[in-house]
Amino acid sequence: MDKKIEEEVKRRRTFAIISHPDAGKTTITEQLLLFSGAIREAGTVKAKGKKSNKFAKSDWMEIEKQRGISVTSSVMQVDYDGFQVNILDTPGHEDFSEDTYRTLMAVDAAVMVVDTGKGIEPQTKKLFEVVSRRGIPIFTFMNKLDRDGREPLDLVAELEEVLGIDAYPMNWPMGMGKTLLGLYDLYNQRVEIRKSEEEDLFIPLDQEGQANGNHEFKESSIYTQAIEDAQLLHEAGNEFDREAINSGKLTPVFFGSALTGFGVQTFLDAFVDLAPAPSTVVTVDNTKIDPVDEQFTGFIFKIQANMNPAHRDRIAFVRIVSGRFVKGMNVVLNRTGKTIRMAHTTQFLADAREEVQDAYPGDIIGLYDTGNFQIGDTIYDGNRKVQFPELPQFTPELFMKVAPKNIMKQKSFHKGIQQLVQEGAIQLYKTFHTEEYIIGAVGQLQFEVFQYRLLHEYNAEVEMTPMGSKIARWIDEKDLDPKMSSSRNLLAKDRFDNPVFLFENQFAENWFKDKHPEIELMQLM
Ligand code: G4P
Repeated sequence: MDKKIEEEVKRRRTFAIISHPDAGKTTITEQLLLFSGAIREAGTVKAKGKKSNKFAKSDWMEIEKQRGISVTSSVMQVDYDGFQVNILDTPGHEDFSEDTYRTLMAVDAAVMVVDTGKGIEPQTKKLFEVVSRRGIPIFTFMNKLDRDGREPLDLVAELEEVLGIDAYPMNWPMGMGKTLLGLYDLYNQRVEIRKSEEEDLFIPLDQEGQANGNHEFKESSIYTQAIEDAQLLHEAGNEFDREAINSGKLTPVFFGSALTGFGVQTFLDAFVDLAPAPSTVVTVDNTKIDPVDEQFTGFIFKIQANMNPAHRDRIAFVRIVSGRFVKGMNVVLNRTGKTIRMAHTTQFLADAREEVQDAYPGDIIGLYDTGNFQIGDTIYDGNRKVQFPELPQFTPELFMKVAPKNIMKQKSFHKGIQQLVQEGAIQLYKTFHTEEYIIGAVGQLQFEVFQYRLLHEYNAEVEMTPMGSKIARWIDEKDLDPKMSSSRNLLAKDRFDNPVFLFENQFAENWFKDKHPEIELMQLM
């Protein structure tokens, strides 16, 4: 076994933040970068997300520049306390897309950031469900403790009730907003208080669970109440169980404030300690690929097109599963059997893209691609053939009817659609009877990218007619009765000709279920 690979695997932590827009994902990422020394100034990450000069340096696709947002997930790699931390960004806001979900297939853990004023919000729930099905650990950060929010007991109960995951509070807030005194931290057996704007003070607990020594806050009923709540939770609540954490059944919950940095370091320290290093991945023929195997293997989870409009480059994002990547090495692309030299690769550091020299399991590298790769492709070196399972498809929620604007350009329209669908940029459906094209997406931005790329890469203008959001449910061929189609439950077929209903809303789906209880309605992941 290669000692170097083993060491590097051990210190890798690859994760994504799942949250609803505005919960504080950017702010907490920035704190991580600050603590790691990757940036010196708060506000840097944010500036990148908005229109700024920093942006001109990179050559993201045109649409991205216009909107001043990052179209698809990017990756950041930082050193934190000896750990190599890889953060995969999961775009929220309007740039939510299927890539956001796919990115979650390439991480070993997730950090769920919740706004304590709001609790579990819709996008958090959606992302949680995808992560939860993978059975990977989920760490919860209850953010914005510097503001008045909801009752901590309520928030924890909501996690369990709305998401169906057990919770284990790692620390407990002593007050909130203006009355915030600190954190009562049973996990580390200490009380954490803010000493100055940047510094926290840690006071160890004595045998009775009281903060050692004389402190003013000990006089406060807020302190006494926090101890009572925390101890009650420890007696009546879930037990700390590493295995349950590892399999995503129990989420460790931390309180803090990303904005002021309070509690963030405590959270990060526990996170790198408890989150798993990259682990074994099973191939389609049930071979277990251990990350410390010497054979290099990886899979492509995302393709970003037109990062440089001048060159029409695409970048294929590879998650390394095993072995060592070395610049210039030859790999086999499993789907075609072709050997490809990995000469131009890029790694994602905090504020610049750099050529990678070598990389290890858990790392994400970007390959400049001229059209060789597809989402879900496996690459490997050496003689042993490896194929990782395909990535799941996600049930789209937004639909549009599409047709070529110019009938003379039909050919390029069809070619463009086929290629974009194959690449995973959009999903394709047809109305069952009339075979009109319908495209499906999980976020509005996918439509814009689709339209833009069809025009710029295939010279085809499209007519798009929004159909709004629909609930897509697949049925078995044997249950198919074309007469069932109506405007409230439009019958369509997916690109493999499987029948699928597009229900107008929940009411329409329920109505259908009542009328046809024998028909099973299925969804993608
Ligand atoms: P996101 O990436 O999840 O969308 O959220 P982001 O970090 O951008 O945070 C959204 C807003 O919430 C920002 O305010 C940010 O400053 C604020 N915020 C984040 N963490 C905390 C916290 O711990 N406490 C408080 N009080 N606020 C927090 P904004 O006014 O929308 O943005 P900005 O223009 O001030 O940066």
